[in-house]
Amino acid sequence: MSVVSYQLDGDIGVIRLNNPPVNALSHALRTGIQEAVAQAQNDASLALVLICEGRTFIAGADISEFGKPPMLPSLPELLNIIEASQKPIIAAIHGTALGGGLETALACHYRCALSTAQVGLPEVKLGLLPGAGGTQRVPRLAGVKAALDLITAGTPITADKALSIGLIDKVVEGDSLTAALDFARDVIAQGAELKKVSDLNVDKAGASTEFFAEYRATLSKRFRGQEAPQRIVECIEAALNTPFDEGMKVERRLFVECMQSSQSAALRHMFFAERMSSKVKDLPKETKLKDIKRVGIIGGGLMGGGIAMNFVNVGIPVTLLEINDEALKRGKALIAKNYAMTVSKGKLTAEAAAQRQDLITGTTDYNDFADIDLVIEAVFENLDIKKQVFSKLDKVCKQGAILASNTSYQDVNLIAESTSRPQDVIGLHFFSPANVMKLLEIVRGDKTSDEVLATSMAIAKTIKKVPALSRVCYGFIGNRMLRQYARESQLCLLEGSTPQNIDTVMQRFGMAMGPLAVGDLAGIDIGYKAREGLSDEQKGDIRTYCIADALYEMGRLGQKTGAGYYKYDPDTRQRIVDPIVLEVIEAQAKKRGVERKVINDETILDRLTFALINEGFKILEEGIAQRPSDIDVVYAFGYGFPAFRGGPMFYADTIGLERIYQTICEFGNTYGEEFWQPAALLKQLVAEGKTLAQWASR
Ligand code: 3HC
Repeated sequence: MSVVSYQLDGDIGVIRLNNPPVNALSHALRTGIQEAVAQAQNDASLALVLICEGRTFIAGADISEFGKPPMLPSLPELLNIIEASQKPIIAAIHGTALGGGLETALACHYRCALSTAQVGLPEVKLGLLPGAGGTQRVPRLAGVKAALDLITAGTPITADKALSIGLIDKVVEGDSLTAALDFARDVIAQGAELKKVSDLNVDKAGASTEFFAEYRATLSKRFRGQEAPQRIVECIEAALNTPFDEGMKVERRLFVECMQSSQSAALRHMFFAERMSSKVKDLPKETKLKDIKRVGIIGGGLMGGGIAMNFVNVGIPVTLLEINDEALKRGKALIAKNYAMTVSKGKLTAEAAAQRQDLITGTTDYNDFADIDLVIEAVFENLDIKKQVFSKLDKVCKQGAILASNTSYQDVNLIAESTSRPQDVIGLHFFSPANVMKLLEIVRGDKTSDEVLATSMAIAKTIKKVPALSRVCYGFIGNRMLRQYARESQLCLLEGSTPQNIDTVMQRFGMAMGPLAVGDLAGIDIGYKAREGLSDEQKGDIRTYCIADALYEMGRLGQKTGAGYYKYDPDTRQRIVDPIVLEVIEAQAKKRGVERKVINDETILDRLTFALINEGFKILEEGIAQRPSDIDVVYAFGYGFPAFRGGPMFYADTIGLERIYQTICEFGNTYGEEFWQPAALLKQLVAEGKTLAQWASR
């Protein structure tokens, strides 16, 4: 079936696009539109409507065509043809007009949009800039400031907002085609003027050199290390200072530069990785989903409360269980505080916050879980306690209920064995703060049923999380890798580095925070307590945690005690370098017989990132993760790994497996083979001269 059709509706020609799922501007679609516009020039139509079938107007260029040889007509060429049409073209927008989709609408002579529609230019999120006139047409309609805000943020805006800044001409209700045909008839009645955005001038008011300099400075802070936002400013400056055609040339040149950058390749990889991670390879398509009408949560602490918010935010009622009324009160107060903060930021009305909290029922009685469809346990991270909880759940919960653990480390198979229904048990590992962090690590036990797994994947989407599937192992994908990363940061400290040194290197690399600053945020007691339950062998080499333990024993637990690897200003919470920490480090080095030497930044970076990558390879060879891109999703969405580097496994391919393998072997010689054993899969791929991406698509 053709992806573009053209038909006359009285004196209006209707160009209808049908390229599911999101009407991306594939080569076939571009060619089809070109032909339809050409055909319409010679028929009885007086105006044309460009409309899409399915759930949305064009959601952008076809990202899967990027990086492949270009096929004509290119999108800018097509948009020139649209704008040059001798009959006015009206874009009828519903759903989301994004990227090249909005640019197509802007090349039309008029735009109407359903009130429920959204429009935006999200290219920056792919490390790109709008490459089909977006940077030149938006400032002509909306002004320089609004254009910069829209294009550098990449976040879609509502139809009403688009109307208010001049991007669209009319907000309509009801049936999109009927409304667009009515609008087209008005256009004809008023003389069918061909309104070309490219003919407009950009308003120069307020767009001074200082304004641009300030805007650039703000962007470089907000998008640390990213190239595309700065290029966008350059394009808008060109829109202001040069004629349309010249501006288009600047836009094209910078678009191609961005497209060829490793940052864009990484972000495009993340786009598909995020969508791929919800797909379970061996799960039959027809697997039935369970209906989740009510959720039970055990534990109303920071984690349990955050998890509860996810569900009530999408209208799913929650029963929250705590050990006594006082703990319940504390838990509810914590949730109320969180909502109050959201309200104070203007992101939610007080009324909506109250409605959501009304969906939470507190209890101290397990019997209140009798009718719950999904229970999530978020109690203390201790296997015995978790097993006791699950054996209680086994007694009170109805048959078929999903019994999930929010454990970050424990063996989900052992937890499942404490029930008579291991097929209903699964790990749902949320990340703190659970109402904010996007990642949901889904841990599939050996006996977890397909139905329970499929429902868990679906529920992740319902509560707007990005799921990633892991098999059972200590720490699953994320924390298992994190242990190796933390190991290297501790060893670097002991062997000669400082917290600020390591954190600066990792932040410059693009991590949201350095590992020691994260340690202070999460609390140094967390690792200490986790180690308490382990044998010496499980704890590993004492050099990998002696500094953390020393700080813990001094009562320096991190931000919550005002001191950890750093000191914290009590008012501003600002991080301050504390000379005492260096003394602690030096004392520990002496005690362990380690001679401290300066470690250069490159070595710090390689030691930390290669530790992550090597463990990632082991996770893949053991089948703990389904695919490399799932590991990237875990790290980008759960651990602040820079998306513009594509996650640790994509980054590995970017810098080359050979170099990583050789360096790990050298590290083994220098720092000890007990820490540095190259993963068998890494060794194998290097021997075969393959990339990880090639292995993944085998
Ligand atoms: N190109 C190719 N495939 C796309 C696509 C695109 N622009 N947008 C979405 N898809 C695919 C997804 O990969 C997914 O495929 P799958 O089913 O095989 O996993 C499918 O369409 C559905 O997408 P979602 O799962 O994301 O569906 P949602 O309903 O949740 O979201 C959406 C829909 C809001 C449109 C979202 O897909 C989205 O944000 N898409 C990307 C929009 C975008 O970035 N556009 C700009 C592209 S760059 C550009 O236009 C350059 C130009 O300036 C020259």
